[in-house]
Parts: sequence; C-alpha cells; structure tokens
Amino acid sequence: MSKNVILSTRGLRKTYGRGDSRFEALRGINLEIIEGESVAIIGKSGSGKSTLMHLLALLDKPTKGNIALDGENTSKLRQSKLNKLRNKKFGFVFQSFFMNANDSVLNNVMLPLKIAGLGARARRRKAMHALRIVGLDDKAKNKANDLSGGQKQRVCIARAIVNDPEIIFADEPTGNLDSATGEKIINILFRLNREKGITLIIVTHDPELAAKCDRQIRISDGHLASEPSKTPPTQLPPTYYEHNSGDTDADGMLDIMEEQA
Ligand SMILES: Nc1ncnc2c1ncn2[C@@H]1O[C@H](COP(=O)(O)OP(=O)(O)OP(=O)(O)O)[C@@H](O)[C@H]1O
Ligand SMILES: [Mg+2]
Repeated sequence: MSKNVILSTRGLRKTYGRGDSRFEALRGINLEIIEGESVAIIGKSGSGKSTLMHLLALLDKPTKGNIALDGENTSKLRQSKLNKLRNKKFGFVFQSFFMNANDSVLNNVMLPLKIAGLGARARRRKAMHALRIVGLDDKAKNKANDLSGGQKQRVCIARAIVNDPEIIFADEPTGNLDSATGEKIINILFRLNREKGITLIIVTHDPELAAKCDRQIRISDGHLASEPSKTPPTQLPPTYYEHNSGDTDADGMLDIMEEQA
C-alpha cells in the first residue's frame, strides 16, 4: 500500500504587514503530512508555528506557494468551497477559536453540524454524544463563556470531533491547563488518532506531548529547521492502514470514544 499524502505544501511563504512593519513569518516551507500520522509542530515563540497551522488549516492564505489537500491544490478553490472543505474535513482545537462566547455550550458544539446541514434532532444527539466524551454533558445549557479554561478547551474538542473530521488541528491544546486536565485532553486526541486514524497536527511547547507524536516538525525563523523524516510506510502505525476503511459513521467513532471515556 502506498502512503497517502493528505496535506502538502510547496514553497509556502507568509509575509505580514508592509513597509517598516513588514515581517516574513514563513520563508518557504515544503512539507508532507501522511494520512493517519500525528505530527507535532515545535519551535520557539514567534518562529511561525501558528502561522503555519493557520495556513495548513486553510484559515488564511499564503503570500506565496501553495497547499494541496488530498492532492488538490487549494489556491484555486473559491472561498465557499474552502469553507465547506474545512467544515467537512477539519476539526479545530484553538485557544483563540472559541467563537460564540455568549451562546450555549450545546449550540457551540452543534455549529459544524448546522453548517453541514444536519437536522435539529441529529445535531442535538451527536453534540450531546461528543459532550459526554469530554465529560461536559452536564454543562450543555451553560453559556460557553461561563466555563473554566479547561472546560472551554474540552468544548473545543467536542466541537472538533462532532463532525468526524479527517484532520484535527490543535494549537497548544494543553496551554493553560492543569496537568490532569491536559492529560485528559491529550488522551482524547491520541485515542482518536489511534482508533479512527484521524490525522493530528499539534502545535506545542510541551516536549512530552511532542514526543508522543509520530513525528516532530521544528520551525525556526520561518524555516523548517529539520527536514521531515521520510518514514517509509512500513514504519507507520497500524492505524495508518485502517484509515478510510469505509467506516465513515460519525456515531461509530463517538460510540468508541464514549465507551472508553
Ligand atoms: N497578524 C500579524 N501581523 C503581523 N505580524 C504577525 C501577525 N501574526 C503573526 N505575526 C508575527 O509572525 C511571527 C510568527 O508568529 P506566530 O504566531 O506564527 O508564532 P508562533 O511560533 O506561533 O509563536 P508562539 O509560540 O508564541 O505562539 C511573529 O514574529 C509574529 O509577531
Ligand atoms: Mg502560536
């Protein structure tokens, strides 16, 4: 079986600002991410990790270069198509991506399903399922803003997994959490990776978390500090082969997760 590249970049550059405040945050990044692997993006503060993550997640456009998703160059896609792709294929666990602070926890988790056009009952059922997995079903009716930092982060995970994504992007998922809550969050993410072959792309300063990933990509001043290792397919984890095995039932994933929560 040949390896399946899910995301790849060519000559990726990102420049912020103009004139004196012009700053080259990314200076030509070439990388490939294989379906089903877990990748840590590491590097010093300001090195460009979040910038890279935003570009990979198609939340922002590169200044130069391009990103291919499932082999398709995304730079030519219209915004509406990009939004659909993101909603269908990606889940986000970003600290600054906690959108509707004044809405209920349940509505926040249901949002991707609403965008995907699911009916009200199915939305509620799946969202409650996801909330049970992260241990927050009792907070479904609370205003999202009233939760603690760790609880908000868990709501983000519930929202990230509710739509059965192919890739989960997490930017410092344990950043502001106590170690027990952080561990819980990491365990949920890696279980999804192992059991459903969901690709994990995690920006982190935590060496322990980075070490748990199949591969680390170090960014230094907007460059890749080390070339991504060319792991032959035979060395990839077994889950890699199981991904896309035809089981696309989101409830199935949630069931597995819940049984083990
Ligand atoms: N919107 C922006 N406008 C101008 N400069 C920006 C903008 N966003 C990021 N930068 C700059 O780009 C560089 C890379 O930022 P980025 O957020 O990617 O760093 P990071 O590696 O995620 O850092 P941290 O670990 O502190 O989160 C930084 O020097 C930052 O100041
Ligand atoms: Mg950052």
